[in-house]
Amino acid sequence: MKILNYGSLNIDLVYRVPRIVAPGETLSSSSFETFAGGKGANQTTALAKAGAPVYHAGKVGRDGQWLVDKLQALGANVDFIRVVDQPSGHAVIQVDDRAENAIFLFPGTNHQIMEDEIEEALWAFAPGDILLLQNEINNIPYIIAKAHAAGLRVCLNPAPMDAQVANYPLDKVDILIVNETEGAGLAGRTSPDGIMAALSERYPDCEIVLTLGAQGARVCCAGEVFCVAGEKVKAVDTTGAGDTFIGYYLGERVADRSVGDALKRACRAAAISVTRPGAADSIPTPEELDGD
Ligand code: RIB
Repeated sequence: MKILNYGSLNIDLVYRVPRIVAPGETLSSSSFETFAGGKGANQTTALAKAGAPVYHAGKVGRDGQWLVDKLQALGANVDFIRVVDQPSGHAVIQVDDRAENAIFLFPGTNHQIMEDEIEEALWAFAPGDILLLQNEINNIPYIIAKAHAAGLRVCLNPAPMDAQVANYPLDKVDILIVNETEGAGLAGRTSPDGIMAALSERYPDCEIVLTLGAQGARVCCAGEVFCVAGEKVKAVDTTGAGDTFIGYYLGERVADRSVGDALKRACRAAAISVTRPGAADSIPTPEELDGD
């Protein structure tokens, strides 16, 4: 079974600030660093580190070739990433003293995904393979519909959430992974119990995964609910923690781990990732998960 992750690749421009800048305010940052990021590329990084057979599809400019090289060095297949003469996507990220972040995106080439490219990538996959998507590229409804028609299992992480997500063909999604904001936006309920109940009732055949940040995560799968509490760690940068969770969760599930074990390892991976700066670079190896 192969995983095709059709997703964003971003150059993350990360500024350390005492607090997230307010409207009309000017603040000096104490440091500036460039990291590899993008929800898509972060999730591929976590999948590759988890040992999953992952193929990344997407688009970068020549300024983003290093992002592709990084994924390839981790063992991800990058045959379906196109490199074009346009600027890559980038993210401007503030990280404050409490390790929280605020992000704005320039989509760049992430929003130039064409229908013929989608079809070409999907040709290489067979029924039973998994398609993973986030919400940082264009043409998501088309990709979901085509992959579903081809018999792939569709896993959607609708992040970052926007008004369009409600119009996506969510009835064709097999695994839905949301945080509380995304879950509340889709479910119309705000408590974790309410979100899980509403989404499982609306999509009874879908595996629903709800991440709760420092509080851990829950899964509802075939009528059974699994919960894992979060680990207490000293966070320095929470950017990419959700992506780490998703890559590890899916990677462990593809490796035939039980839902409960996959959930535990994904939560542990996310907890380790927040103790380090950066997104993709903060994702741990499986060996690190096995340590104390
Ligand atoms: O989820 C974290 C990611 O969101 C960052 O790497 C940034 O690129 C944004 O896409």
